[in-house]
Amino acid sequence: MPGVTSVTFHPLFQDIKTDLQATLDYLQGFMPPEALALAEAGTFSLATPGKMVRPAMVHLMWQALTCTPSTESVVKLAAATELIHLATLLHDDVLDESDLRRGNPTVRQQFGNRIAILGGDWLLAKASETLASLGRVDLVDLYAKVLAELCDGEVLQQSLAFEPIADISWDTYLQKTHKKTASLYVTACHATALLAECDPIVVEEAKAYGAHFGLAFQLQDDMLDYTGNPAVTGKPVLDDIRNGLANAPLLLGYQNPEHRKSLAAALEAIYAEIKQPETDETGLTVACERLKQLLENGDALDQTQECINTYCQQAKQVLSRWPDSPARTCLTQLAAENAKRPR
Ligand code: FPP
Ligand code: MG
Repeated sequence: MPGVTSVTFHPLFQDIKTDLQATLDYLQGFMPPEALALAEAGTFSLATPGKMVRPAMVHLMWQALTCTPSTESVVKLAAATELIHLATLLHDDVLDESDLRRGNPTVRQQFGNRIAILGGDWLLAKASETLASLGRVDLVDLYAKVLAELCDGEVLQQSLAFEPIADISWDTYLQKTHKKTASLYVTACHATALLAECDPIVVEEAKAYGAHFGLAFQLQDDMLDYTGNPAVTGKPVLDDIRNGLANAPLLLGYQNPEHRKSLAAALEAIYAEIKQPETDETGLTVACERLKQLLENGDALDQTQECINTYCQQAKQVLSRWPDSPARTCLTQLAAENAKRPR
């Protein structure tokens, strides 16, 4: 597969840029499939890397746990994790009928849904091959389980879409978020700790870091639905709500008895607009703006931010039990990034 143009990594990943480049080189070393459209879709997905947060977490976790440089096996673990992430995005864009991702046309938009699904399957196959090459059945088992968990989380989310907000508990939201978003971080950290032959207590700490990080990451993404600049996020404001997804600020806002009634009414007004056969975009925008105002006037966004801060703090606390190292500092900063109020 042709190589990518040089990639600029996040400034936090300065110390591991060689490891991330090795991960990208590994991904781009795959033989493309015979089918031309699939090969193009594969090249396209692998040549437009995102922030590489998951591979970075694998490298940083390994270096923090072992105080040694990343090995070829670590590069492969990082690559397998990114492959699974990319596969979920290809499939997710089909499910969400999304045409833009990271400011670029999605695979489904460029090549159609069939190729996007098959492209996702191809990436999953490459992830399995990569994991198998590590010769560790325990790691293959972990990743097989996370694939099921990701599907489960997505289906749980779909089952909650457009449901009355009163029927969605915070616990259910956390369960969905853990499966759909945090689980891949947990698995990446868990697998890295197993590869590093850590004691069971440290393995649990690594998993806890991944879980707290993943929850904070999703909550921040939920906040962006209200506070994000569409020119930066590439998504319209209130995209979750327009898709019938009650996210963290809404659920936390609803827990306040004073705001409950008005929030539920504003949400129902949005859902009613969406369900109209000929949805008038102006009516929907007004209804969305009303909900946004209610959340901004109440304490929902502050509460979400507090929740994010708590998860970030918990992630950092786990790390404080490990020996000091540049990689540990970087993992701490990575967790702190999530706590910055998104714009
Ligand atoms: C992005 O969600 C999607 C995910 C975090 C996971 C999606 C999971 C699946 C499609 C099922 C499992 C798939 C495989 C290949 C095992 P989003 O739509 O909330 O965010 P976005 O804005 O990035 O699209
Ligand atoms: Mg999506």
